[in-house]
Amino acid sequence: MKFNKSILSLALVFSINVFAADKPEVMILGTGGTIAGAAQKATDVTGYTAGEIAVSTLIEAVPEIANVADVKGIQVANTSSSNISSDILLELANTARKALNGDTKGIVVTHGTDTTEETAFFLDLVNQTEKPIVVVGAMRPATAISADGPMNLLNAVTLAASDEARGRGTMIMLNDFIGAAYYTSKTNSTSLDTFKAYDQGFLGTFAGGVPKFYYGPSQATGKPSFNISKIEALPRVDIIYSYLDMQPDQLNALVDAGAKGIVVAGSGNGSTPKAVRDRIAELQKSGFPVVLASRTGAGYVTAKEHGIGSGMLNPQKARIMLMLGLTKTQDLAELADLFGTRA
Ligand code: SIN
Repeated sequence: MKFNKSILSLALVFSINVFAADKPEVMILGTGGTIAGAAQKATDVTGYTAGEIAVSTLIEAVPEIANVADVKGIQVANTSSSNISSDILLELANTARKALNGDTKGIVVTHGTDTTEETAFFLDLVNQTEKPIVVVGAMRPATAISADGPMNLLNAVTLAASDEARGRGTMIMLNDFIGAAYYTSKTNSTSLDTFKAYDQGFLGTFAGGVPKFYYGPSQATGKPSFNISKIEALPRVDIIYSYLDMQPDQLNALVDAGAKGIVVAGSGNGSTPKAVRDRIAELQKSGFPVVLASRTGAGYVTAKEHGIGSGMLNPQKARIMLMLGLTKTQDLAELADLFGTRA
């Protein structure tokens, strides 16, 4: 397996244990992000470096964690989340799988919020246990006045250690709300109140330091499951954005560059200008998968004749689904089934 050495240089080099022997075991996998970010000034909430502080320091800064779990921490990466690669996703998933197959009650992943939804969605599709994975981050760096990371981390560990979290798949925990990784996305570039699932809503909230779920355990309708234990690399899948006057050149460039699939962030219900649509139809005829998603940020993209509708998935989640789907099949109808949109 190949890794980006500069980002993964700390991977698995050290681990921290916070012993609380009578409490459930929770493993925290650190990857960086603003929750591990440091700025020069306590008032600086945008000009900072993400992924500066080790996960061990984040855990030590919240001694209350020992009241809810026996925590083990592993630094898988320490970077801004825009640098999280498919190799890191595989490393994270494999580390989580080994722990979940043992005594660990749940996993917490500390992560930059910018791409939390992609990593959380990936982990949701590949976790083959009933045990929870909770992805947590922060919108303010650890050095800021009123940093949100410590409370988010305590909530995430509490959630991962709770009996009620079982059977709900991977969750995103920020700003006191619990969202299903399958549906939740970052919707605001700077606000603390950024994670939403506009159509599906939250699964629950934190009140008085305890998770309060609105519904019993359930999973997203039609959610597939992938066993990636033997997968060494994920296929290249790219995203392009549709706009007025868009030309097919970008599709052609990506095919020439070796992409194995393309997701188009189309307008509305996955629309593109006619020339692009015609090229997508040609690619589809040749067996090359093009998924049509929506740039609107919410809603459903229906089945298409000239490509694969992304269903409920936004472009970045559709990309993860297509990458995983291509590890199993090249068949376009079977790939469409993963999105619930066979034409
Ligand atoms: C990042 O995603 O790494 C930076 C932004 C954040 O964590 O909020």
